[in-house]
Amino acid sequence: MRRAVCPGSFDPVTNGHVDVINRAAGLYDELVVAVLVNPGKAGLFPVEERIELLREAVADLPTVRVDSFQGLLVDYCRAHDIPVIVKGLRAVSDFEYELQMAQMNRELAAIETLFVPTAPQVGHLSSSLVKQIAMFGGDVSRLVPKAVDDRLRERAREQRS
Ligand code: PNS
Repeated sequence: MRRAVCPGSFDPVTNGHVDVINRAAGLYDELVVAVLVNPGKAGLFPVEERIELLREAVADLPTVRVDSFQGLLVDYCRAHDIPVIVKGLRAVSDFEYELQMAQMNRELAAIETLFVPTAPQVGHLSSSLVKQIAMFGGDVSRLVPKAVDDRLRERAREQRS
């Protein structure tokens, strides 16, 4: 069985992530979307909520499952018998750091990385920008799945009150 992992913070999932997940799902028998648990960094959404939002976003993809991990990504890969990491590349600015991580993950555990160039329509998206815009009351409904948009609006309302 050809298996791959698509790791990230997903705080929250955007249409850019969904694009990469969709396309990676077409290349592997099983794709695990793995949310990094970073105890030192709270983020806007707790990990359980990020997972819930991701599950909703990939509900139409039967070969995709959502999980979380803490620690080194290569340890997660080894524990789950996953030989490939899939990463989306938006622009050249992503490349330098992603290349370094890909080379390191290969050195640490012979795990390969596959880079998927994001669709140009979503190349400008990032979770941080989406959060910033939403928290200041901007409209991100075209940039994120519906459930994420709803949750961001709730958070923005909570912050204002
Ligand atoms: O969505 P992000 O924040 O860009 O995702 C980054 C992530 C989670 C893929 C990366 O930080 C990661 O792999 N973290 C796990 C810790 C690890 O393995 N570090 C060594 C990387 S060479």
